This record gives sequence, structure tokens and C-alpha cells, in this order.
Amino acid sequence: MAEVITITSGKGGVGKSTATANIAVGLALSGQKVVAIDFDIGLRNLDMILGLENRIVYDVVDVMEGKCKLSQALIQDKKTPSLYFLPASQSKDKTILDKAKVKALIEELKADFDYILLDSPAGIEGGFEHAIFWADRALIVVTPEVSSVRDSDRVIGIIDAKSDKAAHGQKVQKHLIINRIKPELVESGQMLSSQDVLKILAIPLIGLVPEDEKVVSATNCGEPVIYDDKSISGECYKRIVRRIAGEEVEFVEFKTQGSILKTFKRLFK
Ligand SMILES: Nc1ncnc2c1ncn2[C@@H]1O[C@H](COP(=O)(O)OP(=O)(O)O)[C@@H](O)[C@H]1O
Ligand SMILES: [Mg+2]
Repeated sequence: MAEVITITSGKGGVGKSTATANIAVGLALSGQKVVAIDFDIGLRNLDMILGLENRIVYDVVDVMEGKCKLSQALIQDKKTPSLYFLPASQSKDKTILDKAKVKALIEELKADFDYILLDSPAGIEGGFEHAIFWADRALIVVTPEVSSVRDSDRVIGIIDAKSDKAAHGQKVQKHLIINRIKPELVESGQMLSSQDVLKILAIPLIGLVPEDEKVVSATNCGEPVIYDDKSISGECYKRIVRRIAGEEVEFVEFKTQGSILKTFKRLFK
């Protein structure tokens, strides 16, 4: 029976789809059977990050409307064959998803997969409501900015109020990913530190990911950065995947010029 993990945030552009792609690949590389579903109706881009955009024939709405079978719409990744992908519809109608049909789809997938990852859109309507409703676990992605943290706080409240689990008196497990950290700015006091963010949101941390240009080049190549063994963000995503599987793993320390100098001075004191 699959675990449903929803990747969400308050704001757009904070790295949800990037996180979904990397975690999906990472879980699949660890031997799990994974399906990633893009709930960002009208604005698909998870397909591009996964490098699967040229293979799309049917999408999630086609499945729900009975235009094709689920097996016809699922795209199997060639590089990591235990990873499957279900694309978002290009429909302009953001209310096109139907609760009972989404439920039927997720139930069908649950029987066949270990993990179902739902990439939620920005905002708190349409695809977002469907993506959070079925979550067993929510990964909330924030950037260290006041606006992002504030919007996420709202989203956490909505998950607690409006998920299927909440309707049954249960709790959705919630974890925080802080993305696009710029260590130099944190050190100079110009960016919120991860401690600052954690104090405000008070949910357990599952990942820290720095700002890394390799994320951008990986997206352009359609090969998530987790495949790049030399990238620091790839290493951060590998650790997130291990934590999802229940392992306790140390957080990567981000070295800045200043912190290297401090260590150097300490060594030669
Ligand atoms: N750690 C990172 N370092 C640098 N760029 C990043 C990082 N994470 C995401 N990005 C970039 O930020 C932009 C938005 O990411 P995306 O995953 O599409 O966000 P969302 O799904 O939340 O809208 C993309 O251009 C992506 O490449
Ligand atoms: Mg997105």
C-alpha cells in the first residue's frame, strides 16, 4: 500500500516541482516503486524537470474522464524504470479535477506503488486542495524569506483542517524543506537562518538545500540534480530521501568563505 506524499508550499517558485522530481528519482533509485503526479493543472513543468515532456500522450484528466486507461497515461522513466510519471492536464479550467475521481485514481495507484508523490500548484485552490486532501505526509517547501514562510504557515493550517486524515481525526505528518539557502547571506544576517524559519513554523525539518546553479542546469537537461554525484544539492536530496525512509541522517554543512576562515583560525590558535 503506497504512502501518499504531497509536496506543497504557500508561494510559487520556491522549488516544489524540483523537490518532487528529485525525491521521486531518489526513492526510485533506492528500489521503491514510485509514481509522481503533477497536479499543477494548466502549468505543467514537472515533466520538463524529469525530462519526460516529449513522451506525453495522455494526462491525469484524460484518465479521470475515461479517455484512456491509467496504464496508457503513466510514463515509465527509461533511466530509472521503477519511476512512473502522470502529467498534468494543459486545461485552462483549474476546477476540472473532481474529488471522487481523484480518489478513485489514487486508490488504484495505491495498490500498485510504494510511494505516490503529488506535486501541488501554488495558491490554495484547485489542484492544491486535491493534492493535500489525500496526503499521508506533506513536505512543505519554503525559501528563507518572510513572505514564503508566512504563506507556508497558512498552508500548514489548511492541511490540518482540510485533509482526509483531518476529517477522520488523524494527523498528516508534516516536514519542512528549506530550499535556496544562501549561506553567505545567512552568515551576514541578510537572510533568515534555518533556525529562524523553524522557530516560526515549528514543524520538523527534513531537508536543507542551498541555492545551487547545478539545479538550474539539471532542469535544463531534464535530468534531476540528484543524479549528479558531485553536486551539493544532489547530496542534500539524497539525504532527504533517506530521511523519508526513516533513517536519521546528518544535515549537510554549507561552507562559506567566512566559516572556512573561522575553522582555519581555530586550528592554528
Ligand atoms: N536549490 C536551488 N538552487 C537554485 N535554483 C533552484 C533551486 N531550487 C529550485 N530552483 C529553481 O527555482 C525555479 C522554481 O522552481 P520550481 O521547482 O519550478 O518551483 P515551484 O514548483 O515551487 O513553482 C526553477 O527555475 C528552479 O530551477
Ligand atoms: Mg511547480
